Amino acid sequence: MTTDIVILAAGKGTRMKSARPKVLHLLAGQPLLQHVVEAARSVNDARVIVVTGHGADQVKAEVNGNDLQYVEQIEQLGTAHAVKMAVPGLREGGTTLILYGDVPLIAPETISDMLSAVNENSMSLLTVELGDPTGYGRILRNDEGLVTAIVEQKDASEEQLKVSEINTGVLALHTNHLKAWLPKINNNNAQGEYYLTDLIALARENNVCVETKQPLSVEEVEGVNNRLQLSALERFYQQQQAKKLMVAGVTLADPGRIDVRGKLVTGNDNFIDINCVFEGSVTLGSNVRIGPNCLIIDSDIGDGVEIKANSIIEKSKVANYGVVGPFARLRPGSELAEGAKIGNFVETKNTKVGKGSKISHLSYVGDAELGDGVNVGAGTITCNYDGINKHKTIMGDNSFIGSNTSLVAPVKIGKNATVGAGSTITRDVPEGELGLTRAKQRNISDWQRPTKKC
Ligand code: UD1
Ligand code: CA
Repeated sequence: MTTDIVILAAGKGTRMKSARPKVLHLLAGQPLLQHVVEAARSVNDARVIVVTGHGADQVKAEVNGNDLQYVEQIEQLGTAHAVKMAVPGLREGGTTLILYGDVPLIAPETISDMLSAVNENSMSLLTVELGDPTGYGRILRNDEGLVTAIVEQKDASEEQLKVSEINTGVLALHTNHLKAWLPKINNNNAQGEYYLTDLIALARENNVCVETKQPLSVEEVEGVNNRLQLSALERFYQQQQAKKLMVAGVTLADPGRIDVRGKLVTGNDNFIDINCVFEGSVTLGSNVRIGPNCLIIDSDIGDGVEIKANSIIEKSKVANYGVVGPFARLRPGSELAEGAKIGNFVETKNTKVGKGSKISHLSYVGDAELGDGVNVGAGTITCNYDGINKHKTIMGDNSFIGSNTSLVAPVKIGKNATVGAGSTITRDVPEGELGLTRAKQRNISDWQRPTKKC
């Protein structure tokens, strides 16, 4: 049987006080709607239809998924009206699941649990008990405990308002039923809206039983209406990430002070100190140590690597036993071979650093290729940019670059060559030779320090 998933995302999100559509606000670095889309994709072969309204073009542009279908709800006349927009895309004889673009943490397990309860005689509804149910639609049950209807807060009687079981909004049913019942829903209610929740009473009338399911945690069904709620869900999500990492064999100095905005895959016996942020896709080998305040984006880190405090690594690779930092910045395209070392206040970009090579202090090395066993002295700068084009610097195996050297690219330092400290190198240095451009030192013996004139 086919599954079609409709994600409602037309609302404006006035309480976000934002120019951005609400569903594009970020949770763990991804739009709220993207989280829902990923959860929807956990269902095999599901067709995902997003109902957009406010900021429709922006939503389409910023959410990933060529496989998504979009329909537009020009006027927001209620949740049933929103689902109606998606009806032409729903496949006969299948199941339809309704999700919400501003309820980001719905779990794949909950979705599959809900779908498993749907057939021609049964629909499923996700409900939860809340200490304070104010604002939500209440679940009404008969004496036998069967669900008979949902009543919205604004339409509910005193007695009904006391019900603590609420409608999360998530429901799934046979698509043929949905198509048959939607046209029967009217807007004769306190808000003058077409309520999707009226489906429940219609199910009862048609002898379709309503099976209720519960989420694994209440956060799964919490919506985002303002930035307070957004931050609460962000913290919940990050706590979950931290727990997963610890279960996967990572020691966290403080599970409350790590942020994973993407996917972090790790080996065993890794240690991550406080305030580290991981973005995009990051892989850590085993026995990795990461010091405090590091930012690692889309990078691969090998076994036994040490990343010291306050380092930034982006779109780079650090092979086994590499050492980075403190205060190092590996910009995109930096690739460290085994045992290479990038020290404090060193910036690299589009640079390969060979086995055991070291750039230990205060340097900029861009568009360069270092062989194995190279030693780059403090204050070395590759002058890789002539104002128009970028040029390459090559340093052969076991070459030695003296401190405070400018390497004006394109330039090649041969194997085992040495560059004297303080040189500005504009021509290649052949293998094994010494390149030196320092002016000769002279000492002035009868020199007098200036004295202060009064
Ligand atoms: C809805 C439910 C309520 C439930 C609550 C859970 C109805 C009638 N009520 O109420 O029982 O307890 O969710 O949060 O369904 N939307 C559209 N187009 C519209 C209207 C809404 O896309 O025309 C989207 C909104 O962007 C939002 C979601 O649907 O993401 C829910 O709409 P909202 O008006 O907030 O519903 P509630 O009043 O919260
Ligand atoms: Ca409403």
